[in-house]
Amino acid sequence: MNKLYQHSVQLLLQTQAPNGAFPASTVFTVYRYCWLRDGTFIAHALDKSGEHAAAGRFFQWVDMAIRKHLAKLNQLFLKHQNGEPIGKDDFLHTRFTLDGDEGTEEWGNFQLDGYGAYLWGVAEHIRLTGDDSFLMKVHRSIEETIRYLTTFWHVPNHDCWEEFGDRVHPSTLAAVFGGLQAIYRYVPVVQIPRTLSAIREALQEHGVQNGRFVKSFGNPSIDANLLWLSVPYKVVPPNGHIMVRTVEEIEHRLVTGGVHRYPEDSFYGGGAWVLLTAWLGWYYAEAGNLQRAKELLAWVEAQADDQGNLPEQVQESLFFPEKYQEWVDRWGEPAKPLLWSHAMYLILAKRLQELAG
Ligand code: BGC
Repeated sequence: MNKLYQHSVQLLLQTQAPNGAFPASTVFTVYRYCWLRDGTFIAHALDKSGEHAAAGRFFQWVDMAIRKHLAKLNQLFLKHQNGEPIGKDDFLHTRFTLDGDEGTEEWGNFQLDGYGAYLWGVAEHIRLTGDDSFLMKVHRSIEETIRYLTTFWHVPNHDCWEEFGDRVHPSTLAAVFGGLQAIYRYVPVVQIPRTLSAIREALQEHGVQNGRFVKSFGNPSIDANLLWLSVPYKVVPPNGHIMVRTVEEIEHRLVTGGVHRYPEDSFYGGGAWVLLTAWLGWYYAEAGNLQRAKELLAWVEAQADDQGNLPEQVQESLFFPEKYQEWVDRWGEPAKPLLWSHAMYLILAKRLQELAG
């Protein structure tokens, strides 16, 4: 594997805290937390690269973080059972300090997709290592997460871009579905099949318009996060007609070389995201279009700086150029290196290598 590949693996390993946590980015102050979503894809990239011990340490960190908040979770289940009103602050957070504590600043903390990701990541870790006994190390948090998701999957919450918390997002449902479906093989809880059917029904009823998936229920816009519906969360096959139509729309409206998040995105002006471009490449690899997957890989590789670091987004064909400076003034230049970008690059590069035989 090439230099960028080696550098990416080393970067992920070196950035991991001794207790297993991965800060999203060490140089970007706002991202010094560990997100379940970013962390799972980082751990998965390490699993695919043979670094199973590091991946396992991350999942054990998640287990620790969830167990740290069991009292809060019990309160939530109790309120639910008693039919009491539940507020956004009653739910588990999507990111924690490296010690597993909640952040204190204002944030869209309620995001279910990271919990689906966690279940998926652990199932993949067990599949890739062949070590079923790993489940014993994380079983408490896995059981609690299954209960959490099968109970609250339908509640509106922030999407993976940490926005629009009053909506239900097909991408988030995909992560919940993918996580529950993957873990069911190891933890066959009866509520899971029921929830999977209910999610499918909800998606069919509210998640599809004009033959493709929509950004959120009631909002027909497009979002590159809809790739999750097939890769990796397998709600639908990559070559199924709804997915193909969705990807056509992503290509048409969101690809300018790299892949943008959604047409209305003005975060840092709405640039092209490295992790999304690798993700679209991963989609094409699974769909059998290796030529397109390789083009996208080449675009990703071209974004690395002299040190081999990949940013969160690049200023390519900004959707709202006038908004860029506003964000730089607020938070500084876009995060670089962003660990999730390196992780998605590794996943795509490895997948293409596997498919080349
Ligand atoms: C992104 C999230 C991500 C977080 C940390 C946010 O800007 O929208 O998807 O988890 O950064 O990388």
